[in-house]
Amino acid sequence: MNASQSTNPQTALVTGATSGLGRATAILLAENGWRVFAAGRSAERRRSIDDLARLRGLPLETLEMDVTSDDSVERAFQEIERRGVRALDAVVNNAGIAIAAPIEEVRYEDLQKQFETNVFSVVRVSQRALPAMRERRRGRIVNMSSIAGKVTMPILGPYSGSKFALEAISDAMRIELHPFGIHVVIIEPGYIRTDMERAAQDLSSAYVAGAERSPYHVVYEGFRRAWDETTRGSKDVPVGCARVILRALTETPPRPRYVVTRRAKLTAFLRRILSDRAFDRSILRATGLDRAGEKT
Ligand SMILES: NC(=O)c1ccc[n+]([C@@H]2O[C@H](COP(=O)([O-])OP(=O)(O)OC[C@H]3O[C@@H](n4cnc5c(N)ncnc54)[C@H](OP(=O)(O)O)[C@@H]3O)[C@@H](O)[C@H]2O)c1
Repeated sequence: MNASQSTNPQTALVTGATSGLGRATAILLAENGWRVFAAGRSAERRRSIDDLARLRGLPLETLEMDVTSDDSVERAFQEIERRGVRALDAVVNNAGIAIAAPIEEVRYEDLQKQFETNVFSVVRVSQRALPAMRERRRGRIVNMSSIAGKVTMPILGPYSGSKFALEAISDAMRIELHPFGIHVVIIEPGYIRTDMERAAQDLSSAYVAGAERSPYHVVYEGFRRAWDETTRGSKDVPVGCARVILRALTETPPRPRYVVTRRAKLTAFLRRILSDRAFDRSILRATGLDRAGEKT
């Protein structure tokens, strides 16, 4: 049944809903009759969502939540309960960041932040939501991975590492929660233009600033070339991914994973059919690093 047709609307918490894919998802769910709790840190961006919801009469409420903080997550869940919802129908674990650096250069604090936000926080939020869902023997957890959770580019090791970890954790959750009637779904988007690139540049600025003097300068250059090539002319928009999430929340049973964007589907296919060596060669060619040995 469509959420808008039931007397009690279905409820969803979307983390990282102040921008990009999370924002588009929160709005689309609300447009489809879901009661949505849109969570994020930025007060300014939350205000803009509140204004939009008021203007359009959408059942969309914002919440302050830093997914990396136990206290903040607890406060947000208490607020959801205070607003009358004890068990959510869905949690979309979408909040995420990307840190770009070669593994030899990445600082431990940055790697920790990468995994804290993209992996440990998914566990933190899910652990808080699950007891009530289990009691009702119903619910869905949607975890936002990436095609980078399937294939790795040089420089994106920290980000990919976090998404590969999230994939494994989500696969374990899906089986563990099967007896309780709770579905766990993984979303694997390819590149979609959002604020993430700018945020990643900010978070990775120290590495980019030192790239010229780094022994990895050709790797940085190769990454930049391959990234520009991948992202140039991309026409994918956040609402496309939001539609896939809506589908993952409404079709029964949902698929274990949904790949989003044509390019990501092609990449996932190539990863499946090519050997590790052949796949490495394709990345080396795309980055120009197949010819870089003599330049380093
Ligand atoms: N765009 C893509 O091409 C793409 C592709 C594959 C996967 N993804 C994944 O999709 C998700 C959303 O990315 P996006 O592209 O929409 O990026 P975005 O526009 O930068 O949005 C990221 C969201 O995460 C929130 N966030 C970051 N750190 C947080 C924290 N500590 N606590 C709470 N919220 C936090 C941000 O909100 P506040 O700053 O307000 O907290 C923001 O709403 C990420 O998991 C990303 O890895 C994106």
